[in-house]
Amino acid sequence: MKIVVAGGTGFLGRAAAGSLLDSGHAVTVLTRNPDRVRTIPRLAGADARRGDVTDAPSLRGTLAGADAVVCAVQFPNHPIEVERKGLTYDRFDRLGTENLIREAQDSGVNRFFYLSGAGADPASDLVWYRAKGRAEESLRHSGLRYVILRPSWAYGPGDQAMSKFASIARLSPVLPQLGVRTQRIQPVHADDVGLAVRRSFELLEVAWDKTFEIGGPDIMTMNAVLHTLLDVMGLRRLVVPIPVVLAKLGTAPLKLLPRPPMTPQGIEFAVQDGVVDTSLLEKVLEVHPVPLRVGLERYLVP
Ligand SMILES: NC(=O)c1ccc[n+]([C@@H]2O[C@H](COP(=O)([O-])OP(=O)(O)OC[C@H]3O[C@@H](n4cnc5c(N)ncnc54)[C@H](OP(=O)(O)O)[C@@H]3O)[C@@H](O)[C@H]2O)c1
Repeated sequence: MKIVVAGGTGFLGRAAAGSLLDSGHAVTVLTRNPDRVRTIPRLAGADARRGDVTDAPSLRGTLAGADAVVCAVQFPNHPIEVERKGLTYDRFDRLGTENLIREAQDSGVNRFFYLSGAGADPASDLVWYRAKGRAEESLRHSGLRYVILRPSWAYGPGDQAMSKFASIARLSPVLPQLGVRTQRIQPVHADDVGLAVRRSFELLEVAWDKTFEIGGPDIMTMNAVLHTLLDVMGLRRLVVPIPVVLAKLGTAPLKLLPRPPMTPQGIEFAVQDGVVDTSLLEKVLEVHPVPLRVGLERYLVP
């Protein structure tokens, strides 16, 4: 099939595009910077087209000739919204996805794969769940064939969060853990997300018009995640929980920076639970994500 992957230069977009390329699909990456595509080894063999999902006219014609589109877009500096620069969940996750859905409808592309997120809910008080939930609703009502995939916390080479923890662990005797509350997540390796995308395109008869959740096999606390990371890296470090209220107080002044490295809202996002139900994923797509230790050993053990 001819598949356009929007956000294909990103962490999960690369996993999705790479997995589709491996199985022989013709992949075109939709990006704001097409020159970048040929610098990413995982995208070898992919074409590139320029388009910005927040700018509907820039999408015109970018899906021409495609059979399907995968949307793996996220705003730069995620999860730190910068409203004055238009970097918001609503503008990217909701409106950007809706622009792409409309372009797919206008171009006669009738399959749309959406990388959503665990906890997506159009009625949520939290803007990240709400924006994703609304995007999902728009897709379900679009008349397009769809797959929605909701990952829990994803990790792997090139990720944002786990790589930061690994870098800190290499340099510092202390590893900070955000929050003292028990945060429950199901870390999932990016390759398993890529596999779920690929399987959806292999199982056209049974996988479509469904919403799948994906996460690792174990519900883990963040503390257990960090200790597993240290164990795999062969390091002994002190894991120190930082109360959320202190972290928020400390990051509040950073909101004034042009590109804040963290904000109270970013902290709130980072301490959310990410528990998912993988039963449909396992039954229909036959994807069985690897445990965290196995996934980390793939790239952190020399
Ligand atoms: N990472 C996780 O743990 C995780 C967990 C759950 C759900 N998800 C979801 O999975 C999706 C991908 O996340 P990710 O972590 O892979 O994001 P990412 O690494 O930040 O990549 C985001 C991609 O979005 C593209 N992009 C940004 N602005 C764009 C625009 N205006 N128009 C077109 N493309 C644009 C970027 O491409 P260019 O810069 O080349 O344009 C980039 O490749 C998101 O929907 C995210 O919410 C991720």
